[in-house]
Amino acid sequence: MLKSRIIATGSFVPEKILTNRDLERMVDTSDEWILERTGIRERHVVSKDESTSDLAAEAARQALKSAGLKAKDIDLIIVATCTPDMFFPSTACMVQHKIGAVHAAAFDINAACSGFLYGLSVADKFIRTGTCTRALVIGAETLTRFVDWEDRTTCVLFGDGAGAVILEPSDDESALLYTHIKSDAEYWDYIQIPGGASKEPASKTVLEKRSNTIRMKGNETFKVAVKTLETLVVDTLEQCNLKPSQLALLIPHQANLRIIQATAKRLGLSMDRVMLNLDRYGNTSAASIPIALDEAVRTGRIRRGDYLLLEAFGAGLTWASALIKW
Ligand code: COA
Repeated sequence: MLKSRIIATGSFVPEKILTNRDLERMVDTSDEWILERTGIRERHVVSKDESTSDLAAEAARQALKSAGLKAKDIDLIIVATCTPDMFFPSTACMVQHKIGAVHAAAFDINAACSGFLYGLSVADKFIRTGTCTRALVIGAETLTRFVDWEDRTTCVLFGDGAGAVILEPSDDESALLYTHIKSDAEYWDYIQIPGGASKEPASKTVLEKRSNTIRMKGNETFKVAVKTLETLVVDTLEQCNLKPSQLALLIPHQANLRIIQATAKRLGLSMDRVMLNLDRYGNTSAASIPIALDEAVRTGRIRRGDYLLLEAFGAGLTWASALIKW
């Protein structure tokens, strides 16, 4: 059976930076608290005239440039996002229009912070079955549009950005070896934006209650995330008959440094084999893994033949992993 492989990556973050010091002037918080509890120093924030599809399209252009391809060469576009431009058309269709990918089918996936790995898993199946030959998978978010800037427990955590990869059929050992996706909605209310959609349509009350912004049971989420990810990474390696010592790099979803450290510890990995950039970007949800992957590629941290483990956890609750031989 065919396998898929990533032939190119790209990423884009908006220009404006919001530092922890800036946040000190907005809510009752401190640079020390944010850094110690999360590992975040600053995050990028979209401007008034930018939206999720703008970031996604730019990340896509970067990936196409790296691959030496034209947008019309793409036959599938999947955008993983929980902060779309609008309910419909999909953000993937907006990206298709912006880059001119006229031969593609385009749709969105929402699995919150796990979305990019869900998208990768779906695109991999399309390629394995021969349904498409060149897939663009993007994780793109503008979470700062949906935070309550008066809620210090959430507004310090999130940032905006986009990352993209292009997948093609693989004719050698370099391949996406394994993907795993899973959901457990028992804790669906741990992270949510309750208002502004069909359950609680946009209204004056929604705006007054700010129920169109992120609500998170942070501490409860933290505990489930640590427990789930520890099992997930061990199981993923087992499925591929690999030992942690064979991993070149762990590329985790960048939500919280302490969660990432716990996962690395479970595998016995030193932190120099873990890709980290949440200090500069915060939690960019579905965009965090493809941004980190692109940075790892561009800074020469990944070599051909390397084994990479990607993992994520997010609202739903959802989680996912991927094992790549580069
Ligand atoms: N600045 C200062 N103090 C803050 C604060 C801030 N920005 N945010 C919360 N606090 C306070 C709380 O009010 C609480 O005070 P209290 O003890 O007087 O009640 C105290 O800090 C501890 O809060 P708690 O929520 O228990 O902190 P925590 O150690 O769990 O860290 C998170 C909070 C959000 C950083 C952490 O829980 C987390 O990262 N959770 C997981 C997020 C995640 O992975 N989401 C999934 C992917 S999107």
